[in-house]
Amino acid sequence: SKLEMFIDELPDMPKIQGFRMLKTSPKPKSLMIGMFKKKWKFHRDLPPTPVFAYGASRRRATVPGPTIEALQGIDTYVTWKNFLPSKHILPWDPTIPTAIPATKTGIPTVVHLHGGMHEPANDGNANSWFTAGFKEKGPDWSKRTYHYNNNQQPGSLWYHDHAMGLTRVNLLAGLIGAYVIRHPEVEGPLELPHGDEFDRPLIVFDRSFRKHGSIYMNSTGNNPSIHPQWQPEYFGDVIIVNGKAWPKMTVRRRKYRLRIINASNARFFRFFFTNGLEFIHVASDSTYLEEPVVTNETLLAPSEIADVVVDFSKSETDEAVLANDAPYPYPSGDPVNGSNGKIMKFTIKKKREVDTWRVPDKLIQYPSPDLSSATQIRYIAMYEYTSDIDEPTHLYINGKPYEAPATETPKAGTSEIWNVINLTEDNHPMHIHLALFTVLDQTELVKAEEFKACMSKMNDAIKCQISKHARGKKLRVAAHEKGWKNVYKMTPGYVTRILVRFSYIHSNTSYSFDPTGMPGYVYHCHVSNYIAFPFMFGGYIFKYKT
Ligand code: C2O
Repeated sequence: SKLEMFIDELPDMPKIQGFRMLKTSPKPKSLMIGMFKKKWKFHRDLPPTPVFAYGASRRRATVPGPTIEALQGIDTYVTWKNFLPSKHILPWDPTIPTAIPATKTGIPTVVHLHGGMHEPANDGNANSWFTAGFKEKGPDWSKRTYHYNNNQQPGSLWYHDHAMGLTRVNLLAGLIGAYVIRHPEVEGPLELPHGDEFDRPLIVFDRSFRKHGSIYMNSTGNNPSIHPQWQPEYFGDVIIVNGKAWPKMTVRRRKYRLRIINASNARFFRFFFTNGLEFIHVASDSTYLEEPVVTNETLLAPSEIADVVVDFSKSETDEAVLANDAPYPYPSGDPVNGSNGKIMKFTIKKKREVDTWRVPDKLIQYPSPDLSSATQIRYIAMYEYTSDIDEPTHLYINGKPYEAPATETPKAGTSEIWNVINLTEDNHPMHIHLALFTVLDQTELVKAEEFKACMSKMNDAIKCQISKHARGKKLRVAAHEKGWKNVYKMTPGYVTRILVRFSYIHSNTSYSFDPTGMPGYVYHCHVSNYIAFPFMFGGYIFKYKT
């Protein structure tokens, strides 16, 4: 009994304005957004699925949650409230470092606004979790109401759970949503597709379901003697867009702006249209490109955002299926099949229209990367410790667990060059909180085995002569990914060099942060089974220099 594709209409998630209008001037606003357990229909023929959903109330809660629309420079305050029951709907693994309330009841949650630039207390640290009614709180919890000052460039962000050890199950249960920052004075003149009809977030993820509708998650570890339940990666066979399995949407023969967010735990998507329609990239992650870039396919790692315009007037057919051909795990796993190779279907109306939207030649100009401004060069190594049964048991950044003192201490407003060395077999999307970075180059490691052997003994890229090994072939960074990003695909067996700017957009805000405390911000692989997890989870302290 396979689910039929292209049955349900693509939903639009409810919108919540993160500002209020006083006469004609926008003012700060305080929101309450709850997390509720409820049932959600993912498909006409699938019984309702128990989920965790964000919303202004239980009735209005959705999967994904409401799209928060903020205005550049206008504060949005959100009190994230946990109304979840005492037990999780998914099996979680108590044998890995995990947020566990002392009373053993209640579900720890904490919200991170991905791509946001905020003080650390609002950043959703993995140990700032709380349970229903704020009954129990993690060691780094400090406040109920998060302050988002939206003091950054317009663009697409998303919010999601970030609780220690539970991120993967909380995301799978449905705790994700889109957050858009708009700046009418800057974006208006661009005349890109705009408004509810033509500008839409598409939140894409994969899930598996049992016959009776509940989310299926394998809870037997690949390596049960070490991690009884932990699976490095989750893959589902049903593709969900905005909360419906393989939905359909009827579009006019016009341009649409689609903010495509890969909210999967582990699945990469390489999107393409079956009728050859193109993607016109206008932004990547949260940041506009300086000029639009046209591609036929778009590779998106978990948590990456492709902000594209699709011109349906160019379609030679009346139907276009958005499809996917990325192997999973990426890049060397299984090829896609009939179900996970399809995303959704667009039906294009026949009638020709005058399109008032355009894609200008120039978008938004950013400071270009200035290599000479870098004050530090760092080496960030991702590698696996393997047991004798040849399954990865630990995946660490620089060989350090999350609880270890922070190793990176950049200063506000500075730039650094990070050499991210991926010694694992999979591509890891590395995300850095608070910072934006540009990808400079990717270079293959020669004699990688030798380097790995040295690293496993010395754990020091310079002593292991990284410069002798980073000599292989270079990968091209795609034109639409050359701007400022907050996550990028670290190719296995390669060194990816990035120029990181810490809070450059935000340099007029002063931070008062205790540099001796827990890490203010983190960087990590965004395969959600690693998030908020000592494996592949690094911490850095952001020091404010007066
Ligand atoms: Cu989108 Cu630390 O995460």
